[in-house]
Amino acid sequence: MTAATAAKKGRRLHPARMGTRVSHFWSDLTREHGYEPLKLEGDIPQELAGTLYRTGPALTQRFGRPYGHVFEGDGAICAVRLGEGKAQGAHRLLRGDGFVEEERAGRPLYQTAVSWPRQVANGLLGRFKNTGNTNVMEWHGHLYALMENARPIAFDRELETVGETSFGGVIQGAFSAHPHPVPSRRTTYNIGLRYGRKTSVAIYSLPWEGQARCLTELPLDHPVMLHDFMATEKHVVMLVSPLRLVIHRAILSIGDFTDLFRWTPSAGTEVIVVPIDEPERVRRFRTDAFFQIHFCGGREEPDAVAVDVMKYADSSALDVNVADVDEPPQTGEVTRIRIPHGTDRVEHERLCETTLEFGQTDLRMAGSDYRHLFGLNVDEENRFRLVHVDLERGSEDVFRFPEGEFNSEALFVPRSPEAPEGEGYLLSIVYRSSSRTSHLAVFDAQHVSDGPVARAHFDHHIPSGFHGTWVSQVGSGAA
Ligand SMILES: [Fe+2]
Repeated sequence: MTAATAAKKGRRLHPARMGTRVSHFWSDLTREHGYEPLKLEGDIPQELAGTLYRTGPALTQRFGRPYGHVFEGDGAICAVRLGEGKAQGAHRLLRGDGFVEEERAGRPLYQTAVSWPRQVANGLLGRFKNTGNTNVMEWHGHLYALMENARPIAFDRELETVGETSFGGVIQGAFSAHPHPVPSRRTTYNIGLRYGRKTSVAIYSLPWEGQARCLTELPLDHPVMLHDFMATEKHVVMLVSPLRLVIHRAILSIGDFTDLFRWTPSAGTEVIVVPIDEPERVRRFRTDAFFQIHFCGGREEPDAVAVDVMKYADSSALDVNVADVDEPPQTGEVTRIRIPHGTDRVEHERLCETTLEFGQTDLRMAGSDYRHLFGLNVDEENRFRLVHVDLERGSEDVFRFPEGEFNSEALFVPRSPEAPEGEGYLLSIVYRSSSRTSHLAVFDAQHVSDGPVARAHFDHHIPSGFHGTWVSQVGSGAA
């Protein structure tokens, strides 16, 4: 039974128990190294000058003891430095406190790689390992690896781990893995959940030229999973789907990551709209349940705030969009959730016919109206695709990867700071199963179907990652 079939039948397979069905795509990293030249095919555009940093789970086991879910995997940073038409790549594990502690002990101490009594003790004592395996953020010229429910782990440009930070005590709970910049406010926003006797969510403001601060902290009715949110020019919007943490399972460590949460549609999705300049005027209401993993945009309208998500009917996308490339991952309906001011209702508008995941835009437009959307999906023959949707023209431009090639989230880099929206390049790390290697594929964002204009090849594979960031040599927006 495949993971997707199992999910449809309401059962789950542990990736670690899937045997050969777990692709090499997700297998352990084989080599750590600093920057070294990558073999080039095609021409790296001269104007691409900077570094792509990506993170992802890079170990499926610890000291031979398998993890129950790829989300638990220890993070590694993959970096590709581009400039003067050349490419250099580096790849290193993050060495956060928990990882180092395990190295010293010579055995696993956390997650499902340890015995059940140890898992229970960890659950009761709130002990967990910060893996930094989900996203990378640059702020004030420093780099941070992020994960769902922990503090940022700082690392340097040579990918050496510096250590966890709370930004001077500002982060009291967690700092989520999806910070969102709003260029017009020259500020990056993020949320952070705090579980405990009462669950709350904090909203953090990280000005590009100032100190971090907590804008507000709001109580939640129930501990939930809240992976992403959106910030617009005036609002922070959270759509709290009813994916609830089963507390006794969390404390007793019953099952893996996905077993800890239960889809509870009768509770509905809670809509939380926080005015950035007056956070005390928060608006909250419930609507029919739906689910999103990621947001891809947001904007202010004359009578509403609108956020764009890749929408699902329920949380089963979490069961099948990782670990098993033999089974197509789920992709969501690109949907604008419009929240009219002064009402307790939402309007859903499908933005394009194609379904997507890992939707990305030109970040110069983040939090405001945008036209060009980039994402990935999989066709009926299980071939991975990179998709550009022009929302103004209603057109799609698609590159279908050859059989045995699997792309990851593509990040957009403008051709120049002044280039029109959407004119630039898409950078995606692609795994090629025939050679068991990975490469950076560079696409012209306005000519996706032409295929990569350049490829920069590692001589090993990069375990499939989730998210990352581009840091321009001339300074990024958040620098
Ligand atoms: Fe994510």
